[in-house]
Amino acid sequence: MIHYRQLIALASITLILALGMAFTQPNPQQEHHPQNLKVLPKDIDHASLIKIMHDFSEALGVKCSGCHVSKGNGDMDFASDAKPEKREAREMMRMMKKINRKYFGVKGNFVDVYMNAKITCYSCHHGQQHPAVAAAHPEGQPLPPPQSPQP
Ligand code: HEC
Ligand code: HEC
Repeated sequence: MIHYRQLIALASITLILALGMAFTQPNPQQEHHPQNLKVLPKDIDHASLIKIMHDFSEALGVKCSGCHVSKGNGDMDFASDAKPEKREAREMMRMMKKINRKYFGVKGNFVDVYMNAKITCYSCHHGQQHPAVAAAHPEGQPLPPPQSPQP
């Protein structure tokens, strides 16, 4: 009889443990922790990461998929480096950090520099993937002739 009760107890404990494990979800924060940061600090908080990513999109006039791989099922693979635009963007981030640190004295890691930046992605891109290198001239208007120096 004692034997039988011990068996029931053991079975109940096993059941409780199994149920507990079945209902333990992986921590979503941990699951979505960035996997592949090379310029941004690895411990960046989610809000700063997402703010910066939205800024990038607006500065270049693209969606997230302008730089990130979108999988067949509509999900995004943000960690993948498959798109050349993402790799180019990393170089741009390094350049932006350097310009701000070297020429404008803005100090700190990428996020510090970014939040206090004088030159941003938008400064050059203005909502375009390919920044204009010169002011637009009205259609068909020839450039004004060079001014001859006054005597
Ligand atoms: C102009 C290119 C560009 C655009 C547009 C862009 N991203 Fe990114 N994203 C990057 C780069 C570059 C990195 C990697 C940064 C690094 O290496 O530190 C990154 C990293 C990320 C990561 C971290 C991935 C990981 O696991 O390492 C997430 C999440 C992310 N982006 C989300 C977004 C979202 C959401 C959008 C749209 C709102 C977006 N990105 C738009 C360039 C871009
Ligand atoms: C000093 C000016 C400048 C700054 C600042 C700048 N860019 Fe650029 N970016 C350029 C130029 C110029 C190109 C080359 C465009 C071309 O090929 O026509 C370029 C190209 C790119 C491209 C490749 C576009 C394509 O479709 O091939 C990406 C992506 C990009 N920049 C992202 C960024 C991001 C993100 C930032 C901010 C972290 C940034 N850039 C800051 C000037 C700048």
